[in-house]
Amino acid sequence: MSGVHDTPAWVMLAYLVAGICFILALRGLSSPATSQRGNRLGMIGMAIAVVTTLVTHVPSAIQPGGHPLQYSPVFAPDWTTIALILAAIGIGAVIGIIGARRIQMTAMPQLVAAFHSLVGLAAVLVGAAAFLNPEAFGIVTRITPIAEPSFLMINPVSRIELGLGVAIGAITFSGSVIAFLKLNGNMGGAPILLPGRHVINLGTLVAILGLVAYFTQDQAPWVFWTILALSFAIGFLLIIPIGGADMPVVVSMLNSYSGWAAAAMGFTLHNSAMIITGALVGSSGAILSYIMCRAMNRSFISVIAGGFGAVASSGSGEVIDRPYKRGSAEDAAFLMKQSDQVIIVPGYGMAVAQAQHVLREMADLLKKEGVRVKYAIHPVAGRMPGHMNVLLAEANVPYDEVFELEDINSEFAQTDVAFVIGANDVTNPAAKTDKTSPIYGMPVLDVEKARTVLFIKRSMGGAGYAGVDNELFYRDNTMMLLADAKKMVEEIVKALA
Ligand code: TAP
Repeated sequence: MSGVHDTPAWVMLAYLVAGICFILALRGLSSPATSQRGNRLGMIGMAIAVVTTLVTHVPSAIQPGGHPLQYSPVFAPDWTTIALILAAIGIGAVIGIIGARRIQMTAMPQLVAAFHSLVGLAAVLVGAAAFLNPEAFGIVTRITPIAEPSFLMINPVSRIELGLGVAIGAITFSGSVIAFLKLNGNMGGAPILLPGRHVINLGTLVAILGLVAYFTQDQAPWVFWTILALSFAIGFLLIIPIGGADMPVVVSMLNSYSGWAAAAMGFTLHNSAMIITGALVGSSGAILSYIMCRAMNRSFISVIAGGFGAVASSGSGEVIDRPYKRGSAEDAAFLMKQSDQVIIVPGYGMAVAQAQHVLREMADLLKKEGVRVKYAIHPVAGRMPGHMNVLLAEANVPYDEVFELEDINSEFAQTDVAFVIGANDVTNPAAKTDKTSPIYGMPVLDVEKARTVLFIKRSMGGAGYAGVDNELFYRDNTMMLLADAKKMVEEIVKALA
């Protein structure tokens, strides 16, 4: 039997270097200033891990009686296998490059969900291959007085790894497919609530765990395939009741699951690089989910339980007739020119309009007039974690002008103008005051405390992601600038210049 004990020292060293690269990559990704370096380190780590795995595993595939997963002391290349692997890498790379180049920044969450579904599927396929051909994976136990000589007994520890690995992989796969369909608009974002869903879900989860335990006693095919079928079903059942506003948490939770699925398969494959990488993805996804839950003031359990956004909220239609103040680009330019401090609050609409570059031009002109300009970033503004930071970095906005919610919220009260560009939910005071609102309890930016709030959006009818109306539009100190964000800021720039 092969195992980590057979692994040559240089391979362990290479995997360790890859693991260190991944840890440094995660550290780099924690700030926009170092994120490119982080990405590069991640790519280097992955290249080291992939090349090491190929060099040590492919040659032995053709050795008579050898197992593909055993490290071969001799280099005897099997060119057919190598060509197949390279072709698969090539096809995957082309799809990845085209996808990443074509994808709009606003569609990034669904791209991430699609990628997670592939990680889950890969774990399922590896698990199924190991179950069908356990000898090739070196997970057969030889110390069994089994009557049938053709019977290959999978060792019980590997059965637990296999059972858990395919279960998590299948949940990740079907859950990510539903998340993709919801985020991509192919399926309604509203939660779908089945009667008795908590009982069904809990029962299914208990059944899966029970079957994984039973699998250690009986490796009959029906046990394995039932674990798989129930896990696909529970992934689907767990995600359909989750409403739109909780989707960011779900995507990062599925990210975490995909990591744990990969780690479980790393044990089956005796690959320490996969265990390290899976554990890093699993734990960073879990930490990100926790941070996002805190940003929305929701407990992790209530997100998983689903149903958020199902409450009938005051739709935007009801209140369109209420009076509000409408201003022009010239009015906005005049007000901001007179200010000591302007705080810009970007949101999803800025991303849609791609207004970040002209926004920076506007800020530069204001700074020339002696106005202090700051940016306030809500942790879930936009449609993915760090969405606004990425866009502002792309427009070369200096990092020291960009502040997180908790660092800037107290400043709105001493600010002349809060310039809200395409943000909505993250400024909605209902989150603080209206217990019936689906966003109640989410920390929000206190823009209404500024002397004047300038609010850019296209129409009074359009609501934010959570689908609720925003009381701010109708306040005395709010001036609505109704237009596409980029067009409006271009006009403000003209007026300022
Ligand atoms: P939203 O509440 O979604 O509001 C976006 C606003 O932008 C709307 O008022 C919309 O009004 C306006 N808009 C859209 N296109 C525009 C354009 N071209 N020009 C000008 N305005 C435009 O955005 P937010 O405040 O950033 O809040 C984010 C929401 O998304 C939260 O509810 C959050 O929970 C959720 N979410 C976040 C994430 C992450 S991780 N960030 C992921 C998924 C979901 P009009 O249609 O009238 O223009």
